[in-house]
Amino acid sequence: VTLARQVAAKAATLEALREAIEDYDLCPLKQGARNTVFADGNPKARVMLIGEAPGRDEDLQGKPFVGRAGQLLDRMLAAIGLDRGSPDPARAVYIANVLPWRPPVNRDPEPAEIAQMLPFLARHVELVDPDLIVLMGNTACAAALGTRGITRLRGSWTEAFGRPALPTLHPANLLRAPANKRLVWADLLSLRARLEGRA
Ligand code: URA
Repeated sequence: VTLARQVAAKAATLEALREAIEDYDLCPLKQGARNTVFADGNPKARVMLIGEAPGRDEDLQGKPFVGRAGQLLDRMLAAIGLDRGSPDPARAVYIANVLPWRPPVNRDPEPAEIAQMLPFLARHVELVDPDLIVLMGNTACAAALGTRGITRLRGSWTEAFGRPALPTLHPANLLRAPANKRLVWADLLSLRARLEGRA
């Protein structure tokens, strides 16, 4: 973690940070991964979304949230007028994960892996400098807030990395439990309201 902190702090740009992560060999997850999955979307976006770790599709393509959960995420974002591909910072989002490498057979990341890569995530947020953060799922909350319990945390604004952050359910959870979509819908409306300065 000490080396990760030093290396991450030295990265002065997102491109430098991406290279620093690609060159970081101390996380065992890297050995089993095909690609380093850094981020997607517009780095000028006002909103930064933080997920967990790449799945199979993300590992193959080297981009976050391109599989089924990602497609659902894109549809939900579109419903509140957001689009990761948008050049307009007010409509765009920027998307990253706690871990840049796929855990074997998609197992949950271990606390030690989260802790090891946290300095990179913290620097990532600093360099993107978003107005608002959305923490998707327990791993994002564990990393950014130091606590799990997403069903209790979701829907209430808190602070992460020194800025307003909204925990919500991970889109993969919604694939397993579609009835939870109404909860995330409420969270998205809360995000929309913040973006419009209504809350
Ligand atoms: N789930 C995540 O948390 N991140 C991805 O990039 C894809 C699925």
